[in-house]
Amino acid sequence: MTARIIGTGRAVPAEIITNDDLAKVVETNDEWISTRTGIRQRRVAKEETTAGLAAEAARKALEQACMAPEDIQLVIVATCSSDYFFPNTACLVAEELGIRHAAGFDLSAACTGFLYALNTAQAYMAAGMYKNALIIGVETISKLIDWKDRSTCVLFGDGAGAAVLETGDRGFLDMVQHSDGEKADVLTCRTRAMNNLLVSGDPSLDYIKMEGQEVFKFAVKKVPECIEELLEKTGTAREDIKYFILHQANSRIISSVAKRLKMEEEKFPMNVNLYGNTSAASIPILLDEMNRDGRLQRGDKIILSGFGAGLTWGAALLEW
Ligand code: UT7
Repeated sequence: MTARIIGTGRAVPAEIITNDDLAKVVETNDEWISTRTGIRQRRVAKEETTAGLAAEAARKALEQACMAPEDIQLVIVATCSSDYFFPNTACLVAEELGIRHAAGFDLSAACTGFLYALNTAQAYMAAGMYKNALIIGVETISKLIDWKDRSTCVLFGDGAGAAVLETGDRGFLDMVQHSDGEKADVLTCRTRAMNNLLVSGDPSLDYIKMEGQEVFKFAVKKVPECIEELLEKTGTAREDIKYFILHQANSRIISSVAKRLKMEEEKFPMNVNLYGNTSAASIPILLDEMNRDGRLQRGDKIILSGFGAGLTWGAALLEW
């Protein structure tokens, strides 16, 4: 038995912040941002919450899957920007949608989060523990950003993407996933400092800090490597893959991965221009766009690949 995606959905905040808008608050410009990253605008939450965006994306995925909320058995939310330390976002989404009695937890693997959620759901379902699952990648990462730091504030955006999985005889084929804490310090966002009876730390929250070039080098090396690993593991020819759906961090990273794999760039769809880097939400947002506009057809073989803080990375091979 394997997990098959039977419905997808996405939700993004209403407010659009363009590169020109950012040029009014930090020393930057549209030319720098768009040529270095491919990003032209991003959505930023105003009224929206992490759980609210997640629930909206999930509702659409459930509708498409023709799945009643009360039938969902497992909810996994990948996020690094939840509304609360607890309760977890999965419980808030379940409450909002009327999902009762499902197991629900959040998972933290930064921009690789959705991929980890998919792999985790697949493992549960293949073991026969659950017949279906709702998996969501969601971020309101704008609240973790120092809006005075031009090296990071131009890169990220908020949003959510969701998928409903059901067990079947085809769908999820295989995956590889990795992590390496040795380079953990190149992309971080600290939680609160220790502050208790024994120590009095600064209670203020910290912001995202990134050594951009280190992350760039990691991504362009590890993503093609893990895709090759997956192709080899499954005996799949790269020509048989219709699309490589990569985490949308930077169009230059995606182009470089295509080049290293010696594949035409048309097989690497992008929407980073519209949303920026939405971390765990980027893969499911793009997946939903492609599912709804007809680019994905039953039987297509696709590879999803994520990479991000941790460092974490991986890839999954699916038959649509
Ligand atoms: O989800 C995974 C998360 N992250 C990523 O995938 C990010 C991976 N890294 C990258 O995408 C790229 O490293 C960046 C887009 C973040 C930066 O591009 P870069 O070509 O590596 O630029 P850089 O950091 O080497 O900076 C080049 C110059 C510097 O000025 P000097 O020292 O050459 O005078 C920066 O201060 O660009 C400057 N700079 C900016 N200028 C205008 C940095 N940010 C900006 C900005 N606008 N927003």
